[in-house]
Amino acid sequence: MPLVQEIDYGTPASQSPEPVTLRIDGASVTVPAGTSIMRAAMDAGIQVPKLCATDSVDAFGSCRLCLVEIAGRPGTPASCTTPVAAGMTVSTQTERLKQIRRGVMELYISDHPLDCLTCAANGDCELQDMAGAVGLREVRYGYQGENHLGVTKDESNPYFTFDPSKCIVCSRCVRACEEVQGTFALTIQARGFDSKVSPGAAESFIDSECVSCGACVQACPTATLMEKTVIATGQPEHSVVTTCAYCGVGCSFKAEMRGEELVRMVPYKEGKANHGHSCVKGRFAWGYAQHRERILKPMIRESIDQPWREVSWQVAIDRVASEFRRLQDKYGRLSIGGITSSRCTNEETYLVQKLIRGGFGNNNVDTCARVCHSPTGYGLKTTFGTSAGTQDFDSVEQSDVIVVIGANPTDAHPVFASRMKKRLRQGARLIVIDPRRTDLVRTPHVEADYHLPLRPGTNAAILNALAHVIVTEGLVNEPFVREFCDRDAFEHWAEFVADPRNSPETIGLLTGVSADAIRGAARLFAAGPNSAIYYGLGVTEHSQGTTSVMAIANLAMATGNLGRHGVGVNPLRGQNNVQGSCDMGSFPHELSGYRHISDDATRTMFEKLWGRPLDAEPGLRIPNMFDAAIDGTFKGIYVQGEDILQSDPNTRHVQAALAAMECVVVQDLFLNETANYAHVFLPGSTFLEKDGTFTNAERRINRVRRVMSPKNGMADWEITLAIAKAMGFKMPYGHPSEIMDEIARLTPTFAGVSYELLDKVGSVQWPCNEKAPTGTPIMHIGGFARGKGNFMITEYVPTDERTGPRFPLLLTTGRILSQYNVGAQTRRTDNVVWHDEDVLEIHPHDAEQRGVSDGDWVKLESRAGGTALRARLTDRVAPGVVYTTFHHPTTQANVVTTEFSDWATNCPEYKVTAVQVTPSNGPTDWQRDYNAQADRSRRIAPVAAE
Ligand code: SF4
Ligand code: SF4
Ligand code: SF4
Ligand code: FES
Repeated sequence: MPLVQEIDYGTPASQSPEPVTLRIDGASVTVPAGTSIMRAAMDAGIQVPKLCATDSVDAFGSCRLCLVEIAGRPGTPASCTTPVAAGMTVSTQTERLKQIRRGVMELYISDHPLDCLTCAANGDCELQDMAGAVGLREVRYGYQGENHLGVTKDESNPYFTFDPSKCIVCSRCVRACEEVQGTFALTIQARGFDSKVSPGAAESFIDSECVSCGACVQACPTATLMEKTVIATGQPEHSVVTTCAYCGVGCSFKAEMRGEELVRMVPYKEGKANHGHSCVKGRFAWGYAQHRERILKPMIRESIDQPWREVSWQVAIDRVASEFRRLQDKYGRLSIGGITSSRCTNEETYLVQKLIRGGFGNNNVDTCARVCHSPTGYGLKTTFGTSAGTQDFDSVEQSDVIVVIGANPTDAHPVFASRMKKRLRQGARLIVIDPRRTDLVRTPHVEADYHLPLRPGTNAAILNALAHVIVTEGLVNEPFVREFCDRDAFEHWAEFVADPRNSPETIGLLTGVSADAIRGAARLFAAGPNSAIYYGLGVTEHSQGTTSVMAIANLAMATGNLGRHGVGVNPLRGQNNVQGSCDMGSFPHELSGYRHISDDATRTMFEKLWGRPLDAEPGLRIPNMFDAAIDGTFKGIYVQGEDILQSDPNTRHVQAALAAMECVVVQDLFLNETANYAHVFLPGSTFLEKDGTFTNAERRINRVRRVMSPKNGMADWEITLAIAKAMGFKMPYGHPSEIMDEIARLTPTFAGVSYELLDKVGSVQWPCNEKAPTGTPIMHIGGFARGKGNFMITEYVPTDERTGPRFPLLLTTGRILSQYNVGAQTRRTDNVVWHDEDVLEIHPHDAEQRGVSDGDWVKLESRAGGTALRARLTDRVAPGVVYTTFHHPTTQANVVTTEFSDWATNCPEYKVTAVQVTPSNGPTDWQRDYNAQADRSRRIAPVAAE
């Protein structure tokens, strides 16, 4: 298997529809107007030497290596900065050009270390390649003159080095940081001989604004910016294209390998979600796969106060099967269930729900999407008819107004955020609705037109107020509503939102946002012409999560912002396969493709293929499983790839539920917090060790490809198969592609999906079937999936979680860039240099009232429980609001969150908890006890495997 090589065309593609024909070195070539001569030459198979040009950034024209001659024009223009013209005749290889190029290269090489043979980039260096391409044989100036060879390396970044002695000051890195990433961390300081790349005003990369996305490393044509893993391991020798296993953007990467060793992850230009860009997690934070704490052997124990015993796979699987059978015999068919993971593949998720429905004989299956985006599924299905976002990511390039509500894309969806910021730098307008002043509100060359810093828990109210302005000021897109929406529902809704109780003046008092800002934002959104809404867990994780999703859908319908590029309702999914785990039938009431389990025709189809009768009654949701466990009726659970103890709300309640069960089976990479209560531990496999698919936030089904053998001996899908077999439910698959074939057979929206198609076209967005053989980038074109768009009444109902004298502050939670979810993976990488503990953001005013200084330990307490962490004083949060992340188990931030949840879906209300903050000396007694118990629970007995 060779390295996957991608062509560098030198300059970005032109989008012009107008063709231009010219001749280059005698060959006729036709390209879109606006294309550079360099790129047109590449199209004709002619490679013009280049150094400062690369197709991820605009041409700069500084190195003078790409000069060409154009008939009838004087001089030797740079082919990277000169656009094609009709009838042009270009020569790229004359004697004069060759001499100029050799002269240019001679100057570069005279100030470059001559250590090619020992350089880490040897064999992958454009400077080396170009020296060869121009035929450089000697450097007449010698190497003794003034040079930069002694400059010190900057090794401060954990993942890449910066060796200025090798820099040719081509500024590709600076432009990548600006144009691709949008961080503007790098500059070229000084001029002429003294010019040098610098990480802003900072001394080093680690102290700069750099977010370690790696775009500069990828753009660098020399060994100046270089991955430390390549320096340590050597150049990769083969590669496999696969999909990042972190967030819902679903970036494609080339996993570049030496044998079974991963050398680096390089973002794949052909990847339709990321177009060659990455963030620090996907690009660099994959070391957890080799982490010493990874569990590679199955383990069992009789009770949770015993140490773990390593056993063979056979013993572990038999234990699972016999325990689950015992529990069902003793407590009934409904006494066990399972949880699928949004981090596992579609195929694995499908198998777990199949095992539960067909093997356990009940519908007690739920997914971690319950606690994040279940309101999206319900809300969008009710209004539009499909439980998914409406657009592809490319759509943002045509947006004129972008609304970001309850989402923090620069931290949680960084690659998409970079594309959004690019569009904003091009002039799109921005409305941010968020209690915190997130980075997007003001970031280099981007400033929100409106930031509505609403009080946590009032999303539905502010969305109604925006709708009020649109309806009462005559801003409704009448032709759209008339043609595509249910008229009665619209009129009923319009009357509701027009009521004075939804006016900006009334809602302003409630939300803490000025009425003028609400009116201005509503007018801007309605004016468009292309307005798009992006939202995240700040919308869904509320008691009115579903209400707010429907209110967003109402706004988009009322203004006609659906069914074309640049518009739409776009849920930004948290984990890599949240969309997929929902699609695959992980909810207790739905089979794959969101079909209700009580629908006889659908159920019969599954029964026939699976050879098992299925229960028509929906099963238990996650919170119901916990309640039933505490009541003594739910006794066993199979949890694949999900840490319910750390990620679900009200930790003490989850602890009690797990402790009440007789058989907890955890399948994961590490002994996570849930495993502290487990009786069987099945070691999981990483995304690098298995085949499958993930479905990202734009419904894009992307291949996950095995790049190395499973270190635990079995991929996750094989483990589920083994459990099913041991329970007497045979599943006949030899490869995940066969699982996908079955999914396609049973699921109309996946009918056309196969590994063969994915290998051919790269990725597809569902629905993918006879009507849309290569997928559906934009949904609801020319009409809604459900027929007519359905306006829903979205009355604001305040949460029962109220502040008062005991708990006067509101806690809201979120993520940061360098960590991911419960941190199980990222905490086991060098990403901890940026974030090694959860901290509490508190406004200086609230801190002063409590005698708290920056960095002090504080106790954070709600009526559910308390924990302690350090305070960070910041005005990013408003007075009265505090904020933290939940990446570290030592903090257990969810001990504070409550049992309140969304009225429709039970999605927990993570984003609103009434709390008190008081000074503290360090961790609470509860934390100490918890951590001591966790340490005890992780003991592994030193016995040989059976
Ligand atoms: S790693 Fe990314 S953010 Fe950092 S300097 Fe390079 S391009 Fe900029
Ligand atoms: S660090 Fe690399 S990309 Fe940046 S200017 Fe130097 S050689 Fe060019
Ligand atoms: S943006 Fe998301 S999918 Fe892309 S590299 Fe980062 S974590 Fe992975
Ligand atoms: S590649 Fe064109 S001037 Fe450098």
